[in-house]
Amino acid sequence: MPMCRIFAATFKKGKVSPILKIGLKRLEYGGYDSAGMATINNGHLEIKKGVGKIDEVDKQVNFESLEGRTGIAHNRWATHGYPSVTNAHPLTDCTGNIAVVHNGVIENFLELKADLIEKGHEFKSRTDTEVVAHLIEDEIKSGKDFVDACLKAVKKVEGSYALAIIYSKEPDKIVLVKKESPLYLGIGSDGNFASSDPVAFVDRTNLMIPLEDYELAVITPYDHKIYSLKTETEITRKPVQIDIKPQMIEKGGYPHFMLKEIFEQPTSLYYAINIQKPYLEAISELMNRSKVNFLVGAGTSYHSCLAGSYMYSKIAGLATIPVVASEFIQQYGNTLDPDTSLLLVSQSGETADVLKVASYARMKASTVMALTNVVSSTITRLSRLYLVQQAGPEIGVAATKTYTSQLLIHLLLALEIGKRREKISENEINEYYSKIRSIPKIAESVLKDTDQKIKEVAEMLKDSSHIFYLGRGINTATAFEGRLKMLEIAYIPSSAFSAGESKHGPIALIEKNTPVIFIAPNDSSRKVILGNIMEIKSRGGKIITLGNAEDKELKDVSDVYIGMPESEDIITPILYVLPLQLLAYYTAVLKGLDPDKPRNLAKSVTVE
Ligand code: AGP
Repeated sequence: MPMCRIFAATFKKGKVSPILKIGLKRLEYGGYDSAGMATINNGHLEIKKGVGKIDEVDKQVNFESLEGRTGIAHNRWATHGYPSVTNAHPLTDCTGNIAVVHNGVIENFLELKADLIEKGHEFKSRTDTEVVAHLIEDEIKSGKDFVDACLKAVKKVEGSYALAIIYSKEPDKIVLVKKESPLYLGIGSDGNFASSDPVAFVDRTNLMIPLEDYELAVITPYDHKIYSLKTETEITRKPVQIDIKPQMIEKGGYPHFMLKEIFEQPTSLYYAINIQKPYLEAISELMNRSKVNFLVGAGTSYHSCLAGSYMYSKIAGLATIPVVASEFIQQYGNTLDPDTSLLLVSQSGETADVLKVASYARMKASTVMALTNVVSSTITRLSRLYLVQQAGPEIGVAATKTYTSQLLIHLLLALEIGKRREKISENEINEYYSKIRSIPKIAESVLKDTDQKIKEVAEMLKDSSHIFYLGRGINTATAFEGRLKMLEIAYIPSSAFSAGESKHGPIALIEKNTPVIFIAPNDSSRKVILGNIMEIKSRGGKIITLGNAEDKELKDVSDVYIGMPESEDIITPILYVLPLQLLAYYTAVLKGLDPDKPRNLAKSVTVE
């Protein structure tokens, strides 16, 4: 079950279900069409599951009524099998003694299922995951103990998985197995944990162990052991400190995580400016040395790559090719060689399309580097060098603060490369740095100054059937990002184009009062964009412009004008996207939608 999240815990004493429930709530960003929990009580499995968000399911089943010190839990985002109680995890074997939760996809499940049915197993769900429970059942029947049975069973499985498994006859043990889906052990003093994301157990321990692919771990309340699936030998790995503080995952007084995260940008930008210098220099060096440089990401992270390509070109005279991760191998795979570098950008570091590019590029001996927000994510393990953007956990499904941090880090890299290529003098670099250092303060005033006006624009736009976003140059990326935010959380069909493209087709859709949002800072494209505004205006479009606060001419031709502070053109994408994030947020709220959990989406897309 891809894009789900799993959580497991086993305690020396006390009930596990309340802790599992808290963890599930924190993991809800990863999937929320059904949820479930299983515990072992007096040698028997007890299971509660249902369809809906955690609170809805909890109302139906009362998770905390489950007794027992050991348990596993799951948030589901359906692929194989529609959301239903039967398809919700945990899933069990025929005897009802083994329960499994899973994040990933079992690619050979149809063959495995056919074999198992032939042997007499009865399947209750339509999921791929259920085969795991039955495979383990078979191994136990043939005389193996629980851990050995899991090891042998998982070896038959092809695909991706983070699995947590319990067996009622060995009630103190939880078996965890990982391949391609994230899985972390939490090492505590009252017991031990495992989860797709350490946020689930961050308030119970500050020590974790990230599991690697093809590893199987066993946790009991007293200890943990890790084994290699390939060699079946034990591995020793020291726990590392968790860098997330419990208060960071709460909403901090905001009604939604998204709004909190939007308003956290002055802080996250400040951290981005103070990113690890040695890694910045090392990545710049490798990019500078490479013959070809690709910037690869998905969704918002791709938009940062697009904006980044303008920065590298303008500041460092370096051509970079921004590519959507899911297209990369088809489009450029055959061109990769040891002289090629890839900077992979992924907030979560777990996006399957990006990880696939990483593995492919490694096979071709290209240089793989990454920019991510999650220190111990998979991408960091696949990259030769990586930068951590230090934006803090982003819980809202819509990327906000991590986008502006990514933009800022591209800018810092561009300056480093420009220095190496002697495209920019020491003086110019210093000037840039003093402007960059003022970004957090300016971002803070943009958020404060535009907030009220944006609420009014949201009121005006909330019933629109279509919204256009147009920008030019580097702010083409801002138009794309503004549109993505509106689409994903307010569900308003929206289109974005480089403004120059508008008369090559999109203008045909403009009717009286069609809302068109222009991103028009006072840069070299300002004059042409004014022309584009006039073209739309003369066809009846409603002009909403984000432009320099002092630009009277632009203001006069616009129906709504959002005044922005004067800034360096290369910095404008960081500032101009802020009102667009707010606009999407307020529009979603006015429509009665939950911006933190848009339908059909997950925070990180861990399947192709
Ligand atoms: C952004 O608002 C989206 N939810 C989505 O496009 C996201 O940016 C994309 O899935 C990439 O995620 P990543 O940065 O974690 O790789």
